[in-house]
Amino acid sequence: MNQPVSIAVVGSGYVGLVAAACFAEMGHSVICVDNDEAKVKLLRGGGVPIHEDYLPELLNRKRANKVEFTTDLRVATQRSQVIFIAVGTPQSKTGSADLSYVDAVASEIARSIDDYKVIVEKSTVPVYTNEWIRRVVERNGVPKDLFDVASNPEFLREGTAVVDFLHPDRIVIGAESERAGNLLKSIYEPLTSGDYYGLPQSVPGACGEKNPPPILLTSTKAAELIKHASNAFLAMKISFINVVANVCEAVGADVEEVSRGMGLDSRIGPRFLRAGIGYGGSCFPKDVAAFRHVAEQLNIDFNLLREVESINEEQKHRFFQKVRSALWTFRGKRVGVLGLSFKGGTDDIRESPALDIVEQLLKEGCIVSAFDPAAMERAKEVIPSSPNMRYASDPYAAAEEADALLILSDWQEFAELDLDRLHYTLRYPIVIDGRNLYDQGVMLERGFTYLSVGRPVSHQTRDAVMHRLP
Ligand code: UDX
Ligand code: UDX
Repeated sequence: MNQPVSIAVVGSGYVGLVAAACFAEMGHSVICVDNDEAKVKLLRGGGVPIHEDYLPELLNRKRANKVEFTTDLRVATQRSQVIFIAVGTPQSKTGSADLSYVDAVASEIARSIDDYKVIVEKSTVPVYTNEWIRRVVERNGVPKDLFDVASNPEFLREGTAVVDFLHPDRIVIGAESERAGNLLKSIYEPLTSGDYYGLPQSVPGACGEKNPPPILLTSTKAAELIKHASNAFLAMKISFINVVANVCEAVGADVEEVSRGMGLDSRIGPRFLRAGIGYGGSCFPKDVAAFRHVAEQLNIDFNLLREVESINEEQKHRFFQKVRSALWTFRGKRVGVLGLSFKGGTDDIRESPALDIVEQLLKEGCIVSAFDPAAMERAKEVIPSSPNMRYASDPYAAAEEADALLILSDWQEFAELDLDRLHYTLRYPIVIDGRNLYDQGVMLERGFTYLSVGRPVSHQTRDAVMHRLP
């Protein structure tokens, strides 16, 4: 393998911690910096604050000599050649990205620089952020030849973050100087050369010794735009299929057949064409808003993105109407809920459409009993347990004596329920599936009234619910 690089990663969240663990896995020495003392203490003690496959194993393997945790950004900067900024970039009131954390971190790094450093933005940021970081560092008196600012956007998905990081579709490096570009290229060399994939303990995935990931060198502005444009495009794909699903419902076609047929066209591709209850998470909602805001600032009409957002809101509303069509009235009804995270495979509840729906149910007077394999602790911080909001120990406990069961996140275990047991457990055998996890024919055969997204409603189901009636 190539020369190890000393790296600091600032921000130990979903992006920063995964990046740090993976850089160590690639042979580099890494210092993770976070200003949350409790988080750093937990990490130092061997804990892992987020739910991600492979992450505990990787951190355990590397903790002894390759990964350290600290709150001291100054020392971390001085000991590192490359500093990745992976702090949050939340949405501000106007929709733009709030870059105050990035600003604060850049100033602190500047005050600690004593020899050449490359500062890399890993967080998703609007175009020109690179330029702003450069100005902040210069304003703090750092000479131009003592630093470079580069952009290395991250495309990992939560839940599969480690595999996405180590087996990326592409690695994008935006750099204006050859020196910075070369240093970043050398960090990714274990992946781009294919060497990493030949190691006995390497995390398995799509890339291999013979098909390593491609690396793309661009300007910093192009790298920033690649990230925003990619997230906005994927969100658009989801909103598109959600509207197609609504058309399918109106004409009695099956959106699963339509998306399969569309996805076989290699120009369209099959992924991110799953209809559902709308996208959520810490990225799509804020990045679509931020990208739209960037366009507005530049006087460019990108109303397409406004449509993407409003379709996404409407999708949650439509699902709620579907629940209403099955329950008629809400007050005092017992509703079982499977899934609170913004998608399966993660404990993250940020911008979760599932939580929006639960909050709406509670507002309407329902008694909710919810289960999620990983997100319940976080959900309790937003919706505490109460007589009307119960957290169940498993899917069947959530379904116990419920008037209907809602499936809101696409956890694999929700697609493999014992249907006979579920039928027996529910008060009424009504399942309203916001993720299309089940075959309609099977659900019908097993005696369920089954409503899903963008699929024709059977006669039995139509008789059982107030479908399309006001
Ligand atoms: C990331 C990216 O940073 C964001 O740009 C992207 O769009 C979404 O994913 P994420 O890793 O999910 O954010 O954020 P979060 O889990 O909130 O982690 C950020 C970490 O940075 C937290 O641990 C926080 O304590 C830390 N932080 C924040 C600092 O160390 N210093 C700060 O000044 C601010
Ligand atoms: C996303 C991007 O995929 C990733 O590249 C980027 O780095 C961060 O943002 P993430 O937010 O972890 O990743 O989740 P993702 O798997 O993209 O799902 C986002 C939302 O879209 C979820 O709510 C998910 O349920 C929904 N979704 C996704 C659909 O409704 N249909 C789909 O076909 C795909």
